[in-house]
Amino acid sequence: MRRVYADANATTPLLSEVMEAMRPYWMERFGNASSIHLDGQQAHGGVDRARETMAEFFNCHAAEVVFNSGGTEGDNTAVFGLLRPGDHFITTSIEHSAILQPARRMVERGVETTFVDPQPSGLIDPADIQRALRPETRLISVMLANNETGVLQPVEKIGKIARLAGAFFHIDAVQGAGKVPCDVKRFGCHLLSISAHKMHGPKGVGAMFVRRGTPLEPLLLGGSHERRQRAGTENVPGIVGLAKAAQLAMGSLEDGTIDRLAALRDRLEAGLLQIPGTGLNGAGDAENAVRRVANTTNIWFDQVEGEAMVIALDLKGIAVSGGSACHSGATEPSHVLMAMGLDKSRARASLRFSLLKTATDDDVDYVLKVVPEAVEHLRAISPVTAGTAG
Ligand SMILES: Cc1ncc(COP(=O)(O)O)c(C=O)c1O
Repeated sequence: MRRVYADANATTPLLSEVMEAMRPYWMERFGNASSIHLDGQQAHGGVDRARETMAEFFNCHAAEVVFNSGGTEGDNTAVFGLLRPGDHFITTSIEHSAILQPARRMVERGVETTFVDPQPSGLIDPADIQRALRPETRLISVMLANNETGVLQPVEKIGKIARLAGAFFHIDAVQGAGKVPCDVKRFGCHLLSISAHKMHGPKGVGAMFVRRGTPLEPLLLGGSHERRQRAGTENVPGIVGLAKAAQLAMGSLEDGTIDRLAALRDRLEAGLLQIPGTGLNGAGDAENAVRRVANTTNIWFDQVEGEAMVIALDLKGIAVSGGSACHSGATEPSHVLMAMGLDKSRARASLRFSLLKTATDDDVDYVLKVVPEAVEHLRAISPVTAGTAG
């Protein structure tokens, strides 16, 4: 049966170039990057070159790149590495749980935390960040792109606010990286976290930009790896794969691939919104223009249970997500959609379609053929339950 994977925000497959770049580092260049013999030097060389590539990706110095195990570790490091009891922390209610859970832990430890809510469009208003500032605000953490709606946040404006307030600024760029340029100078951030597996790299590896001089306590203690900022024998194949994925992502931003993806997504979105009783989550209006990453559209289908749709579409060969895949198994409606003001049933009736950059016109045609049939079928067999019509 035909399969269309439209869940790229959950994870992406390796591109073959990434696999090829990693391959020698599992086998003949298997050394420990800390060893001084030739085998160690070969591994070390791979990590050094990867660091240069990531410095280009972030527009920073190579010494400001720290390799780690991915987005969750980067987010945890920012929160636990900078905040102490008595500090004030500003973040948003639409962050990933990799920020929200550490934030809750810090609250228990005496860090006052403000969770700024988004506007109904899904956008964080920089004025709300400004209003939340206190003299003891030490850290602001806001995501670059939301994983569920794809809405891009005004991080440059927030970076300026942080600078004027003398607060540190962390960006969870896991969903933005590879889809928009990740220029840390333009963003004005001190810390920024990314994850390889969201941009066609391997799982379990990521990187963090740590601006020189930022007093970030390491999360992991042990050996002197990564300039004592992150202990643990380097995942050399993973690091090499991350850098290859980042290099390909930089190419995709320049060669029109991402623009083509945006056009595909727009066609998919327009087609889905033709179905009666649907609407877009993360839509702006005339006053509040909202920018989204090129691959994501999040749509509510009234009188449909999202989980039932995920299963029905899967049976037809289409992989999508209802809410965040990182919370799969949870029955609570998406905290992101709830924070945007959707009612529970409409939040539950929402689906996220997130296209791979390798998606084709045929993929979109197939989704546009199957989804209306599935919606009609589900509405016919379950007369009410989710949402309100219209
Ligand atoms: C916005 C965001 N931050 C952090 C993470 C966690 O990243 P990782 O899977 O690399 O731990 C995710 C994963 O879905 C995410 O979407």
